Amino acid sequence: MKRALSGIQPSGKLHIGNYFGAIRQYVALQDECDAFYFIADYHALTTVEERDAMAANCHEVAAGLLALGLSPDRATVFRQSDVPEVTELTWLLSCMAPVGLMERCHAYKDKVSQGLPASMGLFAYPVLMAADILAYDSNVVPVGQDQKQHIEVTRDIAGSFNSRYGEVFVLPDPYILEDVAVVPGLDGRKMSKSYGNVIEIFDDAKAIERKIRRMETDCTPVEEPKNPDTCNVFALFRLFASPEEREQMAACYRQGGTGYGEVKQRIVELFFRCFGEARAKREELERDPDLLRAIYVDGARKARAKAREVLDRARDACGIGAAL
Ligand code: ADP
Ligand code: TRP
Repeated sequence: MKRALSGIQPSGKLHIGNYFGAIRQYVALQDECDAFYFIADYHALTTVEERDAMAANCHEVAAGLLALGLSPDRATVFRQSDVPEVTELTWLLSCMAPVGLMERCHAYKDKVSQGLPASMGLFAYPVLMAADILAYDSNVVPVGQDQKQHIEVTRDIAGSFNSRYGEVFVLPDPYILEDVAVVPGLDGRKMSKSYGNVIEIFDDAKAIERKIRRMETDCTPVEEPKNPDTCNVFALFRLFASPEEREQMAACYRQGGTGYGEVKQRIVELFFRCFGEARAKREELERDPDLLRAIYVDGARKARAKAREVLDRARDACGIGAAL
């Protein structure tokens, strides 16, 4: 059975870009693959500075993932930092990782251009991510488009290691659904916490409604035909709608007679149709903190067993810790 693996940073609250771009695929792959999903707290340490924020975000993201359908009975759910084998593997991989390759990584360049100080952690972020993936012999990595380059880097590093030392690592493939590879935000740019254009899945109902209603639109009058392909309100609508609902709405746009206010109202309804159950489950989980703790313990035990096996293989291949 193939292994699916992905990680998500506890760097804030989950938004619908995370859901459609990644989490929905995590849930689907639980049934087809041996799935490993983790909270990437060491990655988040490159940007989250406050202790309390880190702890609160980890809780928020883990509870959110469970509410959205990750099931500890079907997937191994754990915290990155509970598997120290991964940080050890990061060093072995660092020695294979050309600085020039790291310098070309968009995520690093973007963050530095946004004014984040360039720490070694931020720079080496893709090597830690490569270790996350390679430590579990992962085959498929469900992510959004923005992570594609990091998976290519992982393949490059693994390929160099294998050609120097033999077939130690499995080369992973990204699993990116074209249709939702880049979910647009409220302003039409990629939805991202760092742009402040997100709709959070577990936000207060009123705040969600308000954000959707305030989305910017052009001023085409209600009666005029509109182009669904260039409209950011339609781009949001289509995420939630069934294929028939999309077709119908696209036809209404082209015909004229449908105002943006009406479409926004439909989005609000569809949002709660899509996330109503998860939102209720999220509240339930809030009342059961022991559950998360138990999931972490069990998940780390399973994840460490696999990571140990791969790390020993890698150490042995490069002659580290070999008996005299
Ligand atoms: P953010 O960009 O808001 O900080 P993260 O880096 O925490 O989001 O992303 C977690 C996962 O969600 C990754 O797999 C990422 O590719 C995916 N993702 C985030 N934003 C989007 C988006 N707008 N469209 C598609 N996928 C996304
Ligand atoms: N870098 C990813 C993000 O920002 C999170 C991540 C860390 C990850 N390790 C991973 C994703 C391994 C997939 C596989 O979204």
